Amino acid sequence: MENQIRCYDDIASETFNVEKVITDTSSDQIDVETTILKLYKQFEKKASIDPELPILNKAIHAKVLKTWLHKLPVSYECLDASRPWLVYWILNALSLLNDMPDAETLSKVVRFLSHCQHEEGGYGGGPYQFPHLGTTYAAVNALSIIGTDEAYDSIDRSSLQKFLWTVRDVDGAFALHKGGEKDIRGAYCAISVAKITNTYTDALFDKTAEWVVSCQTYEGGFAGYPGMEAHGGYAFCGIATLALLNRTQICDIDALLRWCVNRQMRLEGGFQGRTNKLVDGCYSFWQGAAFPIISAILSEENKELMETVLFNQGALQEYIIICCQSPGGGLIDKPGKPRDMYHTCYTLSGLSVAQHGTGVGDPFVVGSPRNELNRVHPLHNIAPHLVYNAVHYFIRHPPPVKDKN
Ligand code: FPP
Ligand code: ZN
Repeated sequence: MENQIRCYDDIASETFNVEKVITDTSSDQIDVETTILKLYKQFEKKASIDPELPILNKAIHAKVLKTWLHKLPVSYECLDASRPWLVYWILNALSLLNDMPDAETLSKVVRFLSHCQHEEGGYGGGPYQFPHLGTTYAAVNALSIIGTDEAYDSIDRSSLQKFLWTVRDVDGAFALHKGGEKDIRGAYCAISVAKITNTYTDALFDKTAEWVVSCQTYEGGFAGYPGMEAHGGYAFCGIATLALLNRTQICDIDALLRWCVNRQMRLEGGFQGRTNKLVDGCYSFWQGAAFPIISAILSEENKELMETVLFNQGALQEYIIICCQSPGGGLIDKPGKPRDMYHTCYTLSGLSVAQHGTGVGDPFVVGSPRNELNRVHPLHNIAPHLVYNAVHYFIRHPPPVKDKN
């Protein structure tokens, strides 16, 4: 695909064809397009006198993220069972912006996450809460971003491995918590954590790849559970899990690629999560990160594809920088929505993927060269060197018990 900034007239010619039938879905789509066209029009006017545009307001995003790390807005009370997630979203965004908090603050974060660690293994949503695979993934990623011995040593890997066994089902799938829902997020969180902490064993992930493949749908994407609808969040979990298990050859990669490329919106430039739904900044990562993974898989047969970016990198960056920045800091789903930590993390992660493409060759940065973000590892969504450091630390310091058997 082309990697040049699109001009307003190119974008305006891409409006949705309602085919003479107005439904709630089509009128919502038209409303979003109308809002976005206005933004692109305003942008083109400003950019005609300032060639540095568009600008990613890094300092203001970092400022609000650091404020959130110390004191949450009252509206976050409902996320009391997701506190390791909040920590991960904030730290990953700051790490991408290359603006990490000071060492004392990071040490406090390590101590807070230790309070979320359950004595039976894994991490709960807060102190004294039951362990959950989602918050365990978030805690391990956050501690890997911090990357100090204190952070690594705070993880009890023997009990973590026992926890992974308690949520594993006989068919290779993972429940998010004991007695909880079993879906593809569970498989992804389990393998990501197990690989980083060196608690992986073949027995723990026996049949997991086959279960994940059974979630690939007739559309080509992956659903949360066999028989359900393909969705970007689940497609990422599916292909990343298979890649971490070295089993991508058992899925239909061409069908996945076809589904993924069709999720990039023609006018908006960002991604939708599923067929006939609206663009959303967070899918910049969930859909966007599938592309370097797919390129790596396809390049095993055709080396040239390692450098081929299979989506429109420029259009995605335009959507994020022009349409998804909140003026007071933080990023958003789409114009008109409020900022939040989840969208700040995943739009920035997606922006990084769009800039760095397959990770091979020079980055392609829309707007000011100062817009460039640090790279992310497409399988774990933390910086590649942080994955490397954690993996090597845990290989050098094996856990006392290697498996339940
Ligand atoms: C639909 O929401 C959302 C889903 C069906 C699930 C999304 C899953 C993820 C984002 C992956 C999570 C991954 C981990 C590792 C925890 P919606 O109907 O509000 O949005 P839509 O209209 O955009 O589909
Ligand atoms: Zn979203």
